[in-house]
Amino acid sequence: MKNHFLLDLSYLFARAVGPGGIAEADLETGAARLAFDAFEARRAKGEIGFVDLPRRRDLSAACREAAAEIRAEATDFLHVGIGGSALGPRALVRALTHPHANLLDAQRRGNPRIFFLENADPETLSGLRDVVDLSRTWIHVVSKSGGTVETLAQWLIVREWLVEAVGEKEARRRTVFTTDPDRGALREVARAEGIRALDIPPNVGGRYSALTPVGLLPLAVAGIDPDSVLNGAQDVMQMCTSPKIDENPALQLACALHALDVHHGKHIHVLMAYADALADTAEWFRQLWAESLGKRYDREGREVFCGPTPVKAVGAIDQHSQLQLYLEGPPDKVILLLGTRARKHALAIPRDTAGRGEMAYLGGHGLGELLDVEQRATEEALARSARPCASLELDAVTPESLGALYQLLELATGYAGELYGVNAFDQPAVEVGKRIAYHALGRPGYASESSPPPPRDARRRFPR
Ligand code: PA5
Repeated sequence: MKNHFLLDLSYLFARAVGPGGIAEADLETGAARLAFDAFEARRAKGEIGFVDLPRRRDLSAACREAAAEIRAEATDFLHVGIGGSALGPRALVRALTHPHANLLDAQRRGNPRIFFLENADPETLSGLRDVVDLSRTWIHVVSKSGGTVETLAQWLIVREWLVEAVGEKEARRRTVFTTDPDRGALREVARAEGIRALDIPPNVGGRYSALTPVGLLPLAVAGIDPDSVLNGAQDVMQMCTSPKIDENPALQLACALHALDVHHGKHIHVLMAYADALADTAEWFRQLWAESLGKRYDREGREVFCGPTPVKAVGAIDQHSQLQLYLEGPPDKVILLLGTRARKHALAIPRDTAGRGEMAYLGGHGLGELLDVEQRATEEALARSARPCASLELDAVTPESLGALYQLLELATGYAGELYGVNAFDQPAVEVGKRIAYHALGRPGYASESSPPPPRDARRRFPR
């Protein structure tokens, strides 16, 4: 097993940051064991599928096979999906590919350009048509439920463009669906029209699906071996087999963040990525933490209105935007800094800074060194201001370490669900909004969503 990350929770403890931090008693092993056992019991019943993904090499093999064909033919690869069907794949591709991949020439890139179509915004989608070469475009349509309106709407539009460009049969050949193996509209269309379809296991929900073909196909199209990502995830599964928090980093993280929220008023959980490559990962985590833990009812049906509010931040950018608030605003936050210990490019600041006045001190330092120093400075400033913070440092941004990170944070979320006593694998409130939208768009079977909304009596046009 390789080393993947360093987890430093020192500044979460009261002994470092004062009473706003956790005490040893907050991590009392009883609660951790109960959470671990409850999670394992659900897993044994087959309710939690993401834990088995690292071993699903059949899924990665299917992605490699489809990607080989796509890489040989396509200049452009459109990934259509939203929420869990887009955030993980986009974050993984961003982390593991050239930072300006789509702007490189084809030879240097060595793989199709990859575009993520998430929002149903006509301006964005129309603009894409000016950019891609439809005669050499492949499309990956991702929806676990197979019925998400933004995804289906965009696919139907792009499908028509592809048909115009290459004809009906070829457009079908250049389409890949990733969806539930049995259920949903996409699976039905795949069967009826003979469209290639990859599987999301039935017991893996959208936000836990990054390591299924949802994320593995785009990665394979980008030339990254999906098995390397799964290997990293598998390593984490081996690290997290114990109910003892000292031996299980995901459980330790979950217990600490849960205790900070419920016992110390740290209701806002910031994930601050100190590497542009990891910025979208902070966005992916924001959804994972929010949709999994933000629940009105606990597992016993009691009204609890629980869930910390996750925030995405990027260092050093947000040092010039959010940090003032984190340091001196309400003491309701815990900040988890996500960084890396190794970068591919050192990029030194020129040594000769003679005549550059007060910027002379920068000469000879590395840009990565600057970011590292800033990360440490932020951490220390937070701790000195009695603001709990922790750091998670990847040894390097590699497919293996990303697989490890995603599995670690998904496991932590699953354990946190048990600590809060909620179901971390559903999203009932989001479904309500979906049903209202279906009704408004005339989808049969959704008439019961037609009750009038609350009145709008403070609506004015300006200037009056
Ligand atoms: O985590 C979830 O389940 C959601 O965020 C979904 O990923 C999102 O609503 C999209 O759903 P689907 O993948 O069914 O299109």
